[in-house]
Amino acid sequence: MRVFVTGTAGFIGFHLARLLLAEGHAVAGFDGMTDYYDVRLKERRHAMLRQNQGFSAAEAMLEDAAALSAAVEAFAPDVIVHLAAQAGVRYSLENPRAYIDANVVGTFNVMEAARAAGVRHLLMASTSSVYGANEAMPFDERQKADTQLTIYAATKKANEAMGHAWAHIHALPVTMFRFFTVYGPWGRPDMALFKFTKGILEGTPIDIYNHGEMWRDFTYVDDLVRGIRGLIDAVPGGPETAVEGDSLSPAAPFRVVNIGNSDKVRLLDFIEAIEQETGCRAIRNMMPMQTGDVPATWADATLLRNLTGHSPRTPFREGVRRFIAWYRDYYDI
Ligand SMILES: NC(=O)c1ccc[n+]([C@@H]2O[C@H](COP(=O)([O-])OP(=O)(O)OC[C@H]3O[C@@H](n4cnc5c(N)ncnc54)[C@H](O)[C@@H]3O)[C@@H](O)[C@H]2O)c1
Repeated sequence: MRVFVTGTAGFIGFHLARLLLAEGHAVAGFDGMTDYYDVRLKERRHAMLRQNQGFSAAEAMLEDAAALSAAVEAFAPDVIVHLAAQAGVRYSLENPRAYIDANVVGTFNVMEAARAAGVRHLLMASTSSVYGANEAMPFDERQKADTQLTIYAATKKANEAMGHAWAHIHALPVTMFRFFTVYGPWGRPDMALFKFTKGILEGTPIDIYNHGEMWRDFTYVDDLVRGIRGLIDAVPGGPETAVEGDSLSPAAPFRVVNIGNSDKVRLLDFIEAIEQETGCRAIRNMMPMQTGDVPATWADATLLRNLTGHSPRTPFREGVRRFIAWYRDYYDI
C-alpha cells in the first residue's frame, strides 16, 4: 500500500509510520514541525523514519493547501491517515485560534486533497474529548456527543461532521478515530506521563488536578497503532463491514470508532506506578479541577474489536515501565 500520513514527526504518526514501514508499505509523511513542544523530539522521530527507504516526508503546514495538494498528488496514495493537528486540551484555553487554523482549515485541506487524489479510504483523528460532558460510561460511538467543553474538542467534533459531509457528497469512505489518552515511548512532553516522570526524576512538584480524583482510559501507543492499522482495511461501506454495534452512517460511507484500552485507571494509581518504576517519590501539588477538563474517560472498544479482531490490552504498569525505560535512555539518565 501507499499510505500518506500527516503528523509523522508527532508521537502517534511516528509510531504508525514505523508499523507500516515494518510491514513493507510505502509511507509519505507530512508535518509542519510546529514548536508547540520541543522540536528536537520531532526531528529525532523524522530522522529515525528517514532511515527506512520506504519513507519520504514533506515539512509544511496543513494550512498551505498548495503544498499539501502537491505532496499528495506527487505520492499518489491509496490511503490517507490524517493525524497532524494542534493537540492538547489545556493549551486550547490559551490559544484557541491555533486549533481553528490547524484543525478546521488544515483538515479541510486534507479532505480536499484526498478527494482530488481519489483515495480508497481517508482516516482522521478525533478524540475522546468529543464526549465532553457525557456521563454514561463506557463511552459508546452511538451515543450523542454534543456537549464539547473546549475549543480543541469542538474542532475535532467539527472534523467528524466535515468528514461525514465529504463522505456523503463524494462517496469517499471516511473513518474517524476517537483516541483515548495515548501514552508510551517517544510520547508528548505536554502530557501527564511525560510531565510526571520529569518532575518525579528531577524532584520538582507535579500538579495533580481535581485532587487526583481523575480516571483515564490510558491506551498504550503500540496497541493504538495496531488498531489504526486494522481500521485501514475496514473500509466503511465495503462488503465485509457493518458489524454488530456499528456506528456506520445510514447516509454515507462513514463511521466513528473508539480506540481505547477499555479500562479506566485512577490517576493516583498511575502516579504510584511511575514512583515504583523510577524508585523516586513524587512531590504532589494537589490542584482543583481545570476548566474544560473532565473527571473520567472510559472507552467501549467493542466496535474496534468487531471490525479488526484487535483489542488494546497492555496493562498500564507495563506501559509505564516501557515509557520510563525510553525516557531514561533518551535523556541519558
Ligand atoms: N496523544 C493523545 O493522547 C491523543 C488523544 C486524542 C486524540 N489525539 C489526536 O491524535 C493526533 C496525533 O496526536 P499526537 O499525540 O501524535 O500529537 P503530536 O502533537 O505529537 O503530533 C501532531 C503533529 O502534527 C504536527 N502539526 C501540528 N499542527 C500542524 C499544522 N498546522 N500543519 C502541519 N503539521 C502540524 C506537529 O508538528 C506534530 O508533529 C492529533 O490529531 C490529536 O489531536 C491524540
